[in-house]
Amino acid sequence: MVRKDTREITKILKKAAEKARKETAHEPSPHLGGKEDWPIEATIGPGLEGAISCYTSIGHVNGSKGVLTYGGYNVFDLAINSTFEETAYLLIFGKLPTEKQLTAFNKKLVTYRHIPKTLRLLQSFPVEDTSPMGSLRLGVNLMRRVLSNIEKDVKKREKIKTVNTDEDSIPDETTPVGHEHAVYEVEDVKDNENLEDIYHLISGMATLTAAISRIRNGNLPIEPDPELSHAANFLYMMTGKRPSAEEERIMDISLIIHADHGMNASTFASMVVASTLSDIYFSIGSGIAALNGPLHGGANEQVLYMLEKIAKKGNVAEWYEEARAQKKKIMGMGHRVYKTYDPRARILAPIADFVAKNSPEDKKLLKIAKQLEEEVVKTLGKKKGIFPNVDFYSGIVYRAMGIDTDMFTPIFAVSRVAGWTARVREYLKTNRIFRPRAIYTGEFEKEYKQK
Ligand SMILES: CC(C)(COP(=O)(O)OP(=O)(O)OC[C@H]1O[C@@H](n2cnc3c(N)ncnc32)[C@H](O)[C@@H]1OP(=O)(O)O)[C@@H](O)C(=O)NCCC(=O)NCCS
Repeated sequence: MVRKDTREITKILKKAAEKARKETAHEPSPHLGGKEDWPIEATIGPGLEGAISCYTSIGHVNGSKGVLTYGGYNVFDLAINSTFEETAYLLIFGKLPTEKQLTAFNKKLVTYRHIPKTLRLLQSFPVEDTSPMGSLRLGVNLMRRVLSNIEKDVKKREKIKTVNTDEDSIPDETTPVGHEHAVYEVEDVKDNENLEDIYHLISGMATLTAAISRIRNGNLPIEPDPELSHAANFLYMMTGKRPSAEEERIMDISLIIHADHGMNASTFASMVVASTLSDIYFSIGSGIAALNGPLHGGANEQVLYMLEKIAKKGNVAEWYEEARAQKKKIMGMGHRVYKTYDPRARILAPIADFVAKNSPEDKKLLKIAKQLEEEVVKTLGKKKGIFPNVDFYSGIVYRAMGIDTDMFTPIFAVSRVAGWTARVREYLKTNRIFRPRAIYTGEFEKEYKQK
C-alpha cells in the first residue's frame, strides 16, 4: 500500500503516465510474444542483438512504444500503486501477493536485513578506498560464505577450542533453516519454499550498500529498523535518519522502476553464470560486475559527472557540439531496445523537478540536463532513436536526496537484484547451459615455427 501522505508524488506520476500514453498512442505495438517452437529464426546482430535465449513471463520491454511491463503490469501502474516489496514478489512469483503472502515475504526481508557477520568481515577490508561496486561485489561473496558451507573450513574451525566473546559481541546472523548450502540444484528451484538465498540477497544487498556508504563517510554501519519499509530502512541505514514520507516514496519508486528490464547485460550475465549450475551468489556477483560498466548501470554516475563538467564550462550547446565532434556518447542517452523515451526517464524527470526545487545547485544541474536533453533529442532523436534512458535523471534525484554520487550504481543493484534473482530462478526451471557461437575470422592450418 502506497502511503497516503505522498499524494503530490502520485499526481506527478499520473501526469507522466498520461503524457506517455498520449505521446505513444500512435506507435504500433510490435509482436508482443507468445510461444514459438525451438528452433526460432531470428536476425542476429553484434552484441547478440536480436538473439532469443529463453521464454519468460517476468517482464517485457516494448522498445518502439516505450512500455515496460512486469508480470503484465505497466511500470507506471506499479510506480503509482505498488511498493518495492510487492513488486519484488511479483517478479519472483509471477503474481501480486495477497496480504498474507506479502506479510510473510516482508517478514523474510526483515530477517535477512541482519547481516552482522558479513558486515564484520567486510569491515576487515579497505572499504574506504575501494569502489562501492567493488565492495558490494565482495560483500555478496561474503554473504555467500555466511550462508554456505562450501567455503567454511570446518576441520580448521573444529580445532579452535575457544572463541573469545564478550557481552557486546554482535550475534551471528540467522542461518536460514533447511538450507545447508548455496549451490543451486535444479530440484531446489522447482518449489517455492526454498528461496532463502533469494530473500537473503534482496534484503542483505540493501544492508550491505547502506553500510558501504556509511563506512566510506567514516561512520559505522547501523542496525536495520524492522518497523520500516525496505525503501525507508535502506535510506535510514544509509543516512542514519528516518526518511520523510516523500523521501521514502521516491526511493520506493526508484527501486520499483529499476527492478527488472528484460535481458539486459547484467541479467544475462547472472543467468549465464547460473546456467552452469554455479550458485546464486556467484551469479549475482556477475550481475553486479556487469552493471558496473558505464554503458550499463554505471551511466547514472557518469551522467552527474558529465553535468558537473558542463556546469563548469557554462554552455550546454557548445559542450554538446564538441562532444559530437569527438564522437562521444552522451551518458544517460540511447538504449539498445528503446528507440523512444524510456518510460523510467519519463517518471524520473518530473520527480527530479520535485526533489530539486529547494536546492539552487540541484536546480542548476537539472536545468543543464534539460537543455542537454533538448539538444540530443533535436539532433539524434528521430535520426537515431536516441532519447533519455533511466540513468539520465536518476542521479539528479539521488543527489537531491543527499546521496553520494558513487553510491548511485550500487542503489541500482539493490533494486535490480529482484529481477536478477527472479530471472535466474525462472531460467533454471528448464535450464540449458548458455553457449553462443562466434564467427571465426582467423586462419587455419598454419605451420608451427618457433619465433
Ligand atoms: C545504451 C547503449 C550502450 C546502447 O548501445 P547500442 O545499442 O549498442 O548502440 P550503439 O552503441 O551501436 O549506437 C548506435 C548508434 O547510436 C549512437 N549512439 C548511441 N548511444 C549514443 C549516445 N548516448 N550518445 C550519442 N550517440 C549515441 C552511436 O554512436 C551509433 O551511431 P552510428 O550509427 O553513427 O555509429 C548506448 O546507447 C550508450 O552507450 N549509451 C550511453 C550509456 C548509457 O546511458 N547507458 C545506460 C543504458 S540504460
